[in-house]
Amino acid sequence: MGRKKDKIDGKDKREKEELDMAILVTGGAGFIGSHTCVELQESGYDVVVLDNLCNSSEKSLERVEAITGKKVTFYKGDILDRDILGRIFEKEDIVCCFHFAGV
Ligand SMILES: NC(=O)c1ccc[n+]([C@@H]2O[C@H](COP(=O)([O-])OP(=O)(O)OC[C@H]3O[C@@H](n4cnc5c(N)ncnc54)[C@H](O)[C@@H]3O)[C@@H](O)[C@H]2O)c1
Repeated sequence: MGRKKDKIDGKDKREKEELDMAILVTGGAGFIGSHTCVELQESGYDVVVLDNLCNSSEKSLERVEAITGKKVTFYKGDILDRDILGRIFEKEDIVCCFHFAGV
């Protein structure tokens, strides 16, 4: 349970609904992205990562999960691939995006 979610009692319904929505982190397996994933999960957000692993490894996401105790929803793919972006936005309840996919 994240710090923010622990404190949710007494907060209004709208704020709780926002915390139940997911944040897309492109390049989430990379250096800045993986640290961002930890902070977001520990703040109570669900995290969806899109990364083609051209400069990283899925191991960093396993470490994120080990640190936070929460699952990262991972899509392996390129940010230029419209099909995978379409699938992600269709399937996941994305409310905003942190874009770190780049070298
Ligand atoms: N690290 C820094 O100090 C720093 C400073 C200023 C700016 N930046 C910029 O911030 C961004 C992230 O930096 P970082 O240090 O975390 O780099 P990083 O290489 O560790 O992370 C980038 C991630 O994006 C992924 N990626 C790259 N191209 C992709 C694509 N086309 N589709 C999907 N995934 C892709 C890589 O596999 C990697 O996991 C980069 O654009 C970098 O130039 C970094």
